[in-house]
This record gives sequence, structure tokens and C-alpha cells, in this order.
Amino acid sequence: MNKPLSLKTRIFLDSGDPQETKEAISLLGFLDGQTTNPSLVAKNPELRKKIDSGEKLSAEDVHDFYRGVIKEISSQIPQGSVSVEVYADATTSKEEIVKQAREMDTWVHNAHIKLPITPSGLEAAHILSQEEKKLNMTLCFSQQQAAAVYAATESSMKGDIFISPFIGRFDDRGENGMSFIENIVKMFSTSNGHVEVLAASVRTYEHFAYCLALGVDIITAPLKVLKQWKEHNLEIPGKDFQYEKGELKHIPYEEISLSKKWDQYNIQHDLTDAGLEKFAKDWKSLIKE
Ligand code: E4P
Repeated sequence: MNKPLSLKTRIFLDSGDPQETKEAISLLGFLDGQTTNPSLVAKNPELRKKIDSGEKLSAEDVHDFYRGVIKEISSQIPQGSVSVEVYADATTSKEEIVKQAREMDTWVHNAHIKLPITPSGLEAAHILSQEEKKLNMTLCFSQQQAAAVYAATESSMKGDIFISPFIGRFDDRGENGMSFIENIVKMFSTSNGHVEVLAASVRTYEHFAYCLALGVDIITAPLKVLKQWKEHNLEIPGKDFQYEKGELKHIPYEEISLSKKWDQYNIQHDLTDAGLEKFAKDWKSLIKE
């Protein structure tokens, strides 16, 4: 099967397992990229086997394992993009994030380095974008955060900066994550396009289908959801697609200017803080020193 000709949205796999990359390629006949994160890498079956057999891994071992995973993924999708996430918790400085990002960027030729939208992450993004690094700004839960990323990376070229608004984690707490995606798409509809919208935390086929209908730039989805898309013959729902939000609470659109200075936006969000904590916890759980 080939990529549908009318498909404008790029399709990424959300997984820390190169075996799934292989499966996704053979399932769809194409794959435009892959996103990873600490929690996904922590679920990698090869790594689990090591840990379950009692192997003690140092921070360096885990780092080396991650590099191996990224290299394997990249070799399967050399024309695509591979997102590699830095380790950060609430205390990580911008200098430390910049250092990690520069190192991870040498792993493969097609990396987008994932940084959290925290004060240090945003400052690091500003520095790294001036070095023409490709970035994926993750854990996005507000338009203010998305606008700050846009302003902090204004010198970047189209395709170099992704922003990852999360859907499922809003749904988890009763808010309609898909209305957040509508808001981000609307806010960027009059932008210069240097930031591309990568819909993340896709948990269901309905999330995926509605993101296609909205025409987001990129969707990253677990293999399970890509399999469901295949069962629907890689359909591309049109503007008339009806998303059933059920009991989920609507997230209202905010009128926000994209032309303020990047440090003038309020980028605090409790879901970003909680997400950062969870990623750090999952990563640390792998290390026994
Ligand atoms: C991908 O870049 C994100 O890290 C991922 O989609 C998060 O998904 P989750 O909310 O299901 O953990």
C-alpha cells in the first residue's frame, strides 16, 4: 500500500521500540517519522528483558541503550524524522538541556530534539534554534506555551520546529483534548508556518481521524491506532467529520498575539509539570547505581 496521494498530514509512530517501526512500515507502506519519550523507552521489550533478568543498569548504560534504539529507528526511516527527548526534571538548568540536546543531535542525521516547555526548556530552545537545531517542543497544554515556542524560535526554518500539543492527557481529566488541538490549529492558521503542529498523546482512532480532518501538520500515534487506520483503509476524513466528545468539557479559544517577546508569555501549566515529573520518574526507575 502506498501513502494516499491526498494525504497532507505526516504520520509518525509513537513508540520506543524499533520492532514497531518495522511493523508500522510494513502495515502502512510508509512512515514519515517516529516520536519517543522516556516512558516509551522504559517500555522497550529488550530493555525490560535486561531489567527483569536482574541486570543493573547505570545512567550511562541507559543513555547508550537509548542511543542504540534511536539509531535503529533512524536507519529504518532515513528520510523521516526521529524525536529524541532530553532528560529533564523541574531542577534541570537550560545549560544542562542545551548540552544534552547538542550531544543527542549527533546520534542520527534526522533527529528532532524534544524539549519540555518549561522556563529552562524554552530558553534552551531559543539558543538551539539559533544554531539551526531541529526541535520538538513537548508537553504542550496551553496556547500561551505554543505562542511562546513560536516567538522563541522565530529564526527557524519551516520543518525545523514541531510543537506537540497533547490530547489524551486532557481527556484523562475530563477536558476535551481535541478542542485544544482545534485551538492550536486556529491560532497558527495565520502564522508564518515555521512551527508545525504535531498532535500527540493520541489514544483512540477518533482522535486520529479528527486530527486528519483538521489537517494538522503531523500526527504521532501508537501502533494500535495505526492498525485501526489500516482497518479503515487509510481513510482521510473530511471537514464534515463529527467528533463525539461525550461528556468532555470544551476548552475555550484564547485570543493571543504571536508577536510578543517569547519571555512575555505565561508558560506555566500543571499538566506540563506533572508530565515532566512522570517522564523523570520512569527514566530514573531504569537506573540502579
Ligand atoms: C509523543 O511525542 C508524546 O510524548 C506521547 O504522544 C505522549 O502520549 P501519552 O500521553 O499517551 O503518554
